[in-house]
Amino acid sequence: MTEAIPQHIAIIMDGNGRWAKARGLSRTQGHRQGAKILENVLRHAQKRGVRVITLFAFSSENWGRPKEEVDALMDLFRNYLKNDVEKLKEEKVRVSFIGNRNRFPTDLKQRMDELEAQTKEFDRFHVILALGYGARDDLTGAVRRIAEAVAIGTLKPEQVDTACVAAHLSTAGIPDPDLLIRTSGEQRVSNFLLWELAYSEFYWADVMWPDFNEAELDKAIEAYQGRQRRFGKL
Ligand code: FPP
Repeated sequence: MTEAIPQHIAIIMDGNGRWAKARGLSRTQGHRQGAKILENVLRHAQKRGVRVITLFAFSSENWGRPKEEVDALMDLFRNYLKNDVEKLKEEKVRVSFIGNRNRFPTDLKQRMDELEAQTKEFDRFHVILALGYGARDDLTGAVRRIAEAVAIGTLKPEQVDTACVAAHLSTAGIPDPDLLIRTSGEQRVSNFLLWELAYSEFYWADVMWPDFNEAELDKAIEAYQGRQRRFGKL
């Protein structure tokens, strides 16, 4: 029997701060290590046949962290989009972003637009970075746009169904995640993809994000496959 590979994996990359603290390092060093391990994880996911990965890199709530940490994260994202994502682009990986970009530095916003435009035709593998993302904000935006369409008469109230709501989210057109992974042992969804995770399997990895690797990803996929077998979904 061929085992099902989750086509879309969503990841809450948690525990950078604790990883750093345990080693007497700064939180920024933890985030830096968290960025460094992404390449291997993404490469391995592609190799296993995963098609879409959504990464929770910066939540709408993260704007409330101390300014030095937010600034350091912006520098990290700037570097990541310049170097690592450039490499992904060369490998014909599609890269896109979900979340509210308004508060991001102008150069980062421009880079996000550019990368989305330059990679939108690539379909081998899709990396979605959630930056400034909050599911309640996303749903609220969708409700507002639907209300506006109803108010001006381009949409009838009876046309508002689940497909219509999904089409107004920032994840419109992307298949829902099959598997959610959260590292660091925390078992919460923390305002990530609330609508899209309705039928996803959840996997809680005990390692901090900087210690996540190919073997940990394999364990998560194996757990997913075990549940598919147990519940006769194959
Ligand atoms: C959670 O750790 C992590 C973040 C808030 C930031 C996520 C960023 C990265 C993993 C960097 C790499 C990502 C990209 C796209 C370059 P935490 O600070 O909440 O850790 P703690 O709960 O142990 O304090």
